[in-house]
Amino acid sequence: MNAPTAVRPSVAAPSSREPIGHVVEVHGPVVDIACEMLPPLHRALEVAIDGGSAVLEVLHHLDPHQVRAIALHRTAGLRRGAPVFDSGEPLRVPVSVKCLGRLLDAFGAPLDGGPPLAPSEFRNLLAPPPLLSDTLPSSDILETGIKVIDLLCPFIRGGKTGLFGGAGVGKTILIMEFMQAVASLHSGVSVFAGVGERIREGHELWHEMRDNGALANAVLVFGQMDESPGVRFRVGLAALTYAEFLRDALGKEVLFLMDNVFRFVQAGSEVSGLLGRMPATVGYQPTLPSEVAELEDRIVSSRRGNITSVQAVYVPADDMTDPAVGAILAHLDTRVILSRAQAAKGIYPAVDPLASGSNLMDRHFLGDRH
Ligand SMILES: Nc1ncnc2c1ncn2[C@@H]1O[C@H](COP(=O)(O)OP(=O)(O)O)[C@@H](O)[C@H]1O
Ligand SMILES: [Mg+2]
Repeated sequence: MNAPTAVRPSVAAPSSREPIGHVVEVHGPVVDIACEMLPPLHRALEVAIDGGSAVLEVLHHLDPHQVRAIALHRTAGLRRGAPVFDSGEPLRVPVSVKCLGRLLDAFGAPLDGGPPLAPSEFRNLLAPPPLLSDTLPSSDILETGIKVIDLLCPFIRGGKTGLFGGAGVGKTILIMEFMQAVASLHSGVSVFAGVGERIREGHELWHEMRDNGALANAVLVFGQMDESPGVRFRVGLAALTYAEFLRDALGKEVLFLMDNVFRFVQAGSEVSGLLGRMPATVGYQPTLPSEVAELEDRIVSSRRGNITSVQAVYVPADDMTDPAVGAILAHLDTRVILSRAQAAKGIYPAVDPLASGSNLMDRHFLGDRH
């Protein structure tokens, strides 16, 4: 077999090391590997495919000499017996302040045709949330200039807002509008996570931001619907890692936008199914609440800086009682619920005024005039 070239700058060429084992079974993105010494859970492994290399994440120890991993790249061309190399690290992304203005994938590799990031450090995608004693509560209101939202469901600085709605009710348009409004008002930086949505929307966003100059203060991280479930499951965390880095390194206000959190849950469900775990409520993964919490609990403001987040949440079949929607809803300060009836009448943004609201909708907080 030819010596593979590493596609990730974070890992040395696999050819420079001894393999730890070999592939014994491949079904789609699920790869079983036989090895003498088991690599720990969430370790990134590498395997050679067609002159390049694919990254695998260890998710299951099957027996004393076999692990089950999920591929974060396409597995076309992978075969039984292929040698597997240990990267020696968990999944991680290269971070540096030079990430501003870039379009990156879930591994922090450029998608914009530019040079790879020269990292000042690497950060683990699965970092723990900050200590409770270091976090700060949400503070004042962040004005968006969109009247119905500022009145009925005001966005909170350092808080979390969800835009809920079925397909085509205007979540993506509203998140873009919000991004433009806030970018011109505040002096911070923004991080946009494109999780499992249309690729075209990513292109449009990138071109638009490049043309209006907003890209210089933003990082776009994409793992859209054409990617493997492993990537769609991890790309939100990769984007969040950049947001945390910018918060800690620059001490600036960071706006963290994600379209769409539901796709993160959906990818988690695919991974769970592929690993052979028994589904729970309505066919979702049994680990649904903890997976959502792992992501949401890290989106917090600390003493070093604020992270304000706005997340689009697809509501399957317009059913707000869906367990995934419920799990996400529980973490948010403000909910903007978009209604199909309004959108059908051509009233945009199609905010449902009775269902939407905010935890800080209180006269002691907002004042009597509001
Ligand atoms: N604020 C708006 N003004 C005019 N049209 C809108 C607005 N928001 C949404 N739309 C219409 O709805 C369509 C779907 O919006 P989109 O944001 O892509 O939906 P979602 O992300 O919820 O699936 C858009 O292509 C547009 O035609
Ligand atoms: Mg959308």
